[in-house]
Amino acid sequence: MWVMPVLVLLPFWGFLYLGAFGDRHTEEVLDPLVLGEQVYRAQGCSSCHGAAGEGGVGPPLANGDSVLTFPEEADQVAWIRSGSGPFKGQPYGDPNRPGGQRGPAQGIMPGYPNLSDEEVQAVVAYEREQL
Ligand code: HEC
Repeated sequence: MWVMPVLVLLPFWGFLYLGAFGDRHTEEVLDPLVLGEQVYRAQGCSSCHGAAGEGGVGPPLANGDSVLTFPEEADQVAWIRSGSGPFKGQPYGDPNRPGGQRGPAQGIMPGYPNLSDEEVQAVVAYEREQL
């Protein structure tokens, strides 16, 4: 018999629990591609690479172009952290890239050392999978 009140109260407890952690919960389940698009716009990537990744001051990123340049995702993460400054005057990315290796970099792209790991991963996923 003692089980009955426990079962009755359980849904309320669950509701309170979710309520207590409501904000954090929604942040955690935010789709990386949604977060990635927010970062892409908020950080100004779109102003140089185009709203749809079609290119502008920066090279196009649409249709998986960045995957061709950086077959290893980690290299793209490092690139965004440092910007193109350290590569100025040098070729960068996959030397066997279809269409030829990228570069020489002009050093125009700023680095983003202050983005969280989650934000960098998300914007990289957005560029690789969605644009
Ligand atoms: C001020 C303009 C500018 C901004 C802002 C900018 N980029 Fe760039 N990006 C460039 C330029 C220019 C290059 C090419 C390297 C060079 O010439 O310096 C580049 C290259 C790249 C590449 C390599 C693409 C390829 O195939 O060569 C990636 C990936 C990239 N940027 C991602 C980003 C992301 C993500 C952001 C925002 C967090 C961003 N960029 C913000 C100008 C910019």
